Amino acid sequence: MPFVIWLTGLSGSGKSTVARHLKEALKKEKRPVYQLDGDVLRAGLCSDLGFSREDRAENNRRMREVAKILFDAGVVVIVSAISPFREDRALNRAAFPAGRYVEVFVDTPLKICEARDVKGLYAKARAGLIREFTGIDSPYEPPENPELRLDGAHLGMEEMSEKVLEYLRERGLLRNAALQERA
Ligand code: ADX
Repeated sequence: MPFVIWLTGLSGSGKSTVARHLKEALKKEKRPVYQLDGDVLRAGLCSDLGFSREDRAENNRRMREVAKILFDAGVVVIVSAISPFREDRALNRAAFPAGRYVEVFVDTPLKICEARDVKGLYAKARAGLIREFTGIDSPYEPPENPELRLDGAHLGMEEMSEKVLEYLRERGLLRNAALQERA
């Protein structure tokens, strides 16, 4: 049975990196897996959308619909997107069977994300060159009851990924390492 891991958090929090690590780990287990990344989808399927409240809702809807198609096909889906609004995330959760939807809050404080500024977007947002940037002049509503919260202030990317894998093993969504070695 497939499942969905939905990584939410600020830009630069580590979502895409953790998603990539998870994808590799699942591939090693020979699980069919696909990563849906906000940046990648926005370059294609969602290239007509901006960052208004409405556009983010539509972006979220399209990601959810693609995730549903893949899930129905038996594929493990790993979504990495800011997904800043509780209302949108609630719709995502409701779209999948209980126990098959794992919301992961990549909780890296704005200070750290901004100091990293991998894409230079925080500097642009502070300078007023881009508007409605999450954490600057557009809100991020932290998840209240995520399946998992990753402490991005204290954990490295590998450690955060390992926490997700641990959770999946505990829940029986992933075989545990010992069984895997014996197989
Ligand atoms: S979401 O809010 O609609 O879920 P999504 O994850 O798809 O966002 O896209 C976020 C990415 O778009 C960021 O990682 C960043 O590279 C880029 N981006 C460009 N402008 C903005 C903005 N105003 N707010 C947030 N991200 C932006």
